[in-house]
Amino acid sequence: MTFAPPDLLRARVARLRRALEAASLDALVVSHLPNIFYFSNFSASAGVLVVGASRLYLLADFRYSAAIDALAADGWLPDEIEVGRVDGSYDQALVRALETGGWGPRVGFEGARVSVKQHGWLAARLATSGQPEGDGAAQADRSATAVALVSTDGLVEALRRRKDEYELDVLREAGRRLSAVARDVLHDVVVAGRSEQAIAADIDWRVRAAGFERPAFETIVASGPNAALPHAHAGERVTEACDLVVVDFGGVYRGYCVDLTRTVALGAPTERMIDLYRAVASAQDAALGRVRAGVPAHVVDAAARDRLAELGLGEAFGHGTGHGLGLEVHEEPRIGKRRPDDPPTELDAGMVCTIEPGAYLPGFGGVRLEDDVIVTPDGCEMITDVPRDAQLLSLT
Ligand code: GLY
Ligand code: MN
Ligand code: MN
Repeated sequence: MTFAPPDLLRARVARLRRALEAASLDALVVSHLPNIFYFSNFSASAGVLVVGASRLYLLADFRYSAAIDALAADGWLPDEIEVGRVDGSYDQALVRALETGGWGPRVGFEGARVSVKQHGWLAARLATSGQPEGDGAAQADRSATAVALVSTDGLVEALRRRKDEYELDVLREAGRRLSAVARDVLHDVVVAGRSEQAIAADIDWRVRAAGFERPAFETIVASGPNAALPHAHAGERVTEACDLVVVDFGGVYRGYCVDLTRTVALGAPTERMIDLYRAVASAQDAALGRVRAGVPAHVVDAAARDRLAELGLGEAFGHGTGHGLGLEVHEEPRIGKRRPDDPPTELDAGMVCTIEPGAYLPGFGGVRLEDDVIVTPDGCEMITDVPRDAQLLSLT
């Protein structure tokens, strides 16, 4: 597998260091695993990265020693990284690293990623750093220095919003591969007489066979009335001729997620199905037409929402129009209604997001269409490419 080149990692770390300086922080404890990967190429189910002004320190346990050695041997780790082995608890190892690492007194942590319990424990331990334990100064750890933990919000996520050229190339390739899978799936896999579960299993197999590390989320196959459930689980229902079927699946390629939905009719669609499909396709076009650097995300959302409302389907569209894609399948920017308490999110060149309006009619079914785009100064670049009328022929 190939990874982000180390000079790119260095540039990402440098951007974080500037953000830390602006926030008057001496270091940041990065505990969200996708964020650790972003700076180090290290992917695991556990780990902690401490980023200071002049040190980059990764804590990992025995399970990952060989993987870290392999990354280092192949030149994929940042040059400056130091690796500390965790033998017991990560939190104890972290306290020790913070007390003795010379980071400085103000250390940030990712407020959205650390539990109240964990924070309480870390803060209590760090508050007594350097003080004697028990009944004598003889037991004091004089190398330990006091550290104040400071909650931060989305420092790394803000850096991850705009993708660099390496990430854009990976996402383009992922979009190309997912589109190829989708074209085959719509042709060969989504047919009448198969259970939703069987179709989903077949899709997942094809996603891996196309070179993805894994599906990006639980594949949705929602047929007939189930298509009215935006996030249905693929179940035992067997597809029938005349069903609408929503198929929503994604893949993780070199760590990056892509996400695609098509809706097909099995057999000849009814007029009502055709109208619903055309309405959603038109809403997707309206939203895609607004995507451009400098446009607030809620304006893109409103384009899809208003179009469906004009067509009498305002109540049938209850979720956001899209979301960012990257190391996580749902990340910033959120393409949804403006939240009164939040500042508007402006789209910027290099952001990657889905555009996925839908309309859902309980008891009847639903339609969702989802594509992935890169925001550009003049509009957007589609990175998924699947005919929208593959089965609902000549409807768009
Ligand atoms: N199935 C997840 C999504 O499309 O956002
Ligand atoms: Mn999706
Ligand atoms: Mn999506």
